[in-house]
Amino acid sequence: MVSSATLSPADFIAALGEHADAFDLRRVDRCASTNSMLVEHIPADGGRIPVLVADHQTAGRGRRGRQWCSWPEGSLAFSALWRFADGAPAPAGLSLAAGLALARALENLGAEGVQLKWPNDVLIHGGKIAGILIELLPGRGRVPAAVIGIGVNLRLPADAAIPGQSAVTDLYRELGRDVTRPALLAAILRELRHLLATYAAAGFPALRGAWQQRNAFAGLPVRIDGENTHLTGLCVGVDDDGALLLDTGDGVQRILSGELSLRAAT
Ligand code: BTN
Repeated sequence: MVSSATLSPADFIAALGEHADAFDLRRVDRCASTNSMLVEHIPADGGRIPVLVADHQTAGRGRRGRQWCSWPEGSLAFSALWRFADGAPAPAGLSLAAGLALARALENLGAEGVQLKWPNDVLIHGGKIAGILIELLPGRGRVPAAVIGIGVNLRLPADAAIPGQSAVTDLYRELGRDVTRPALLAAILRELRHLLATYAAAGFPALRGAWQQRNAFAGLPVRIDGENTHLTGLCVGVDDDGALLLDTGDGVQRILSGELSLRAAT
């Protein structure tokens, strides 16, 4: 297996090296959901990025009300809190910026063929390796913030059953070697910090080209399912706000994040 079930904060801090001071890192043995726990216990703003990592997440939450499965020694599950500064760009592109950070971190570890599925799933060779759940926290007496929850498949058990996921992969399968959770967390946090700083300073337009290079569905026929909407068309890309651009044959439509899912057309 990848690593022992319990890892000390010192393991994570050592892996972060010179970047450790930028993060206020907490680890718990287990919790229902790192997103929920971080929201319930938001640390005071000490200028560092709060991060909560759990060895075992028992009721992980995915997008659109789905569950997110993780395994104590085979997954990485953590959440980071991002506080919006005054005049920050609209949060819509944040989700895509986080996906790009995750993709780059996996590439830095040697993964090839990393792609992004709008708005922020990370795929390798068509299999989902990681997911992101972003939850915006309203201002009410404090700086508006977002919780960025990230789950990565490190080394799934052979009999892992993941409801609702057609194709999944893990880092061990893609790299042919184990990566420890501290090393993976450090790789992701480094990129996340870097890209969120770029996003805060220049907005999503500064990241749009890099996102589009990894667009898994670029130029392909796709189907978008919303609550009450079903659209098909060609995936053109994303715009400066991070909205998906869909050429329906009747013009290009902007699809906003949140309510819609994207699937290859059948
Ligand atoms: C998705 O692809 O549906 C998003 C999955 C997000 C899972 C992560 S694991 C850490 C954090 N805590 C949660 O409950 N969910 C996110």
